[in-house]
Amino acid sequence: MHTQVGIVGGGPSGLLLARLLGLAGIATVVLERRTPQYLRARVRAGLLEQATVDLLTAAGVGERLARERLTHDGVEIAFDGRRHRIDLKGLTGQTVSVYGQAEIQKDLMAAHEAAGSNVVYEAEDVSLHGLTTDRPRLRYHQAGAAQEISCDFIAGCDGFHGVSRQAIPQEVIRIYERTYPFAWLGILSDTLPVNHELIYCNHERGFALCTMRSLTRSRYYLQVSADEDVADWPDERFWSELKRRIPADAARMLETGLSLEKSLAQLRSFVAEPMRHGRLFLAGDAAHIVPPTGAKGLNLAAADVRFLSEALIAYYQVGRTDLLDGYSPRCLARVWKAQRFSWWMTALTHRFPEASAFERRAQAAELSYLIASRAAQTALAENYVGLPIA
Ligand code: FAD
Ligand code: PHB
Repeated sequence: MHTQVGIVGGGPSGLLLARLLGLAGIATVVLERRTPQYLRARVRAGLLEQATVDLLTAAGVGERLARERLTHDGVEIAFDGRRHRIDLKGLTGQTVSVYGQAEIQKDLMAAHEAAGSNVVYEAEDVSLHGLTTDRPRLRYHQAGAAQEISCDFIAGCDGFHGVSRQAIPQEVIRIYERTYPFAWLGILSDTLPVNHELIYCNHERGFALCTMRSLTRSRYYLQVSADEDVADWPDERFWSELKRRIPADAARMLETGLSLEKSLAQLRSFVAEPMRHGRLFLAGDAAHIVPPTGAKGLNLAAADVRFLSEALIAYYQVGRTDLLDGYSPRCLARVWKAQRFSWWMTALTHRFPEASAFERRAQAAELSYLIASRAAQTALAENYVGLPIA
């Protein structure tokens, strides 16, 4: 079997790319190793830049998003028990949207189902071959039977633990990485959000984040040590720790309840360069990971997908190859700015176990500078709402 673009991974990157290409009449096959039920239940991201909302809308999956998203004009940073609001809209003219990644995943899956796209779930042992030839191939097993697809191009959209990046020879790929000595423990519950906007809390017991999925569904995160076990965190322990870390007025308002989901996410900064090898193009978490503090991961993935779809469409419609050649540098210019911001925002808001007394004082000074300086708030706001797509 032959297709134009073979896509490894049916997460947000892979399915969005398949949608944009499909709308332009380009044939794709998506190979995803998980089941549809698993994908619909995966919680993860919640905060979208306007450019991501616009791209989803252009991909024809913006209808429920437009109806159900919550638009936020600001965000709060709390420290020393006090809350400070950053006026995103006043400082940048832009807003951000709350709409869960699980909902995006469902919308994309429904759109593909309606369009009759070729999405193979439970594709096992996916492997990539002939990347530097003009007929790269994907091999996999489906229900035990071996399959092979030849492609014009392959898009590696299979996340951080996928096989696409591994298919690039070590001597042509360069890895830049930073790990953090802590993780995020997240809880989802059908309780009223403690505030109508997000609150990022720097507290001596560790960072906490108050976020949401809707007006009646809350999402909270706690900084915990990297080797923490979710089983050691029954709901009562989570809620009582959260109450200690968020400002007292918020703690008094906090509605607690049964958790619908509880999971641990490791924090990592990671970039693989270049994002192209022969006819393989990496997009999203397959090429880069940011710590979730700046809410950039899914938004960066969407920007990659936009650039890749533009390049492939220009190739098929008018025979241009310059956008394919420029894909990796174009993405990486944006990726590194988001890396810097996510690392900075993590450093500003978390408690680092190994921090010296000097570093603690410098962090406190930076927080107090931030809330006093319009310039510092503008710098945060510009990055938070998303840098322009160049
Ligand atoms: P993935 O979502 O990882 O999808 C990859 C897909 O490939 C998966 O479906 C996987 O099953 C499949 N796959 C893997 N290996 C194979 C294989 N061998 N064969 C076939 N298929 C395979 N980002 C934001 O922008 N805003 C936020 O608010 C935000 N919050 C976050 C909070 C948390 C706690 C976490 C963990 C992440 C958050 N992110 C956020 C980041 C965001 O979730 C990711 O950046 C996003 O999921 C990347 O999408 P992707 O499609 O590139 O990768
Ligand atoms: C979320 O809603 O899950 C979320 C929001 C903002 C972040 C990270 C996660 O920075």
